[in-house]
Amino acid sequence: MDRLLEIGKKKKIRIVEDAAHAFGSLYKGKKIGGFGDVACFSFDPIKNLTCGEGGCVTLNDARLAGILRKKRLLGITRDTWMRYKNKRSWFYEVVTEGYRYHMSNINASIGLAQFKKFEKFIEKKKYIVKEYDGFFRGIKGIGLLRRNYIESAPFNYTIKIFDPNRKNIRDGFIHYMAKRGISIGINYIPNHIQPFFRKFRKKLPVTERVWKEIVSLPLYYDMTKAELKKVRYSVKRFMEGKGK
Ligand SMILES: Cc1ncc(COP(=O)(O)O)c(C=O)c1O
Repeated sequence: MDRLLEIGKKKKIRIVEDAAHAFGSLYKGKKIGGFGDVACFSFDPIKNLTCGEGGCVTLNDARLAGILRKKRLLGITRDTWMRYKNKRSWFYEVVTEGYRYHMSNINASIGLAQFKKFEKFIEKKKYIVKEYDGFFRGIKGIGLLRRNYIESAPFNYTIKIFDPNRKNIRDGFIHYMAKRGISIGINYIPNHIQPFFRKFRKKLPVTERVWKEIVSLPLYYDMTKAELKKVRYSVKRFMEGKGK
């Protein structure tokens, strides 16, 4: 961020932070969401804080905030009337082109309830991540991400698994874990191999190697100690060749 902000300032480019997954994380001790001109968070179902669907924008510019408020609600403002009356009213004006981008009250209420429990969610996820890392460190064929346990609010737990001969073992691993009732995710399939982007395709040898090694293990607030143990030992057994 430091580098990007520096470039933005020098070249007069606005910085919009894609902070979709970063709610609750820090950068150099400060909460994400206030570094650039605008930061966008996502609250969809897989995020650490969810509203079911939706998101929010944070910014420090009253003029821009006014524009966004109108744009998100069909270009409607109730401001003029409200300023004079200070009570609910039937009056509204369409003052600009706008969209239906506002969050429903039902979704917002889910988010507010989640927000009260947010710190608890993150503490538990940090605990699971540290437990996984501690257990997997030193197991042959497992690569761990470099993590900042203090600043990062983890939303998933991804590791690399590889065979010494670089044989693809991932699909067998997913199958082995599924048989044991453990669901494995892949975050993510690279965009450049998606059919829609085929015409732009270029060889990206490192991405293409690494994506065949990445697996995301279960990470959720309700995870019990027994479940955590089962996942850890299943991974270990597979990597020791007992599951292959
Ligand atoms: C990095 C990143 N940006 C943007 C999005 C989009 O989020 P939404 O569609 O909820 O705005 C996601 C969703 O996971 C994401 O991971």
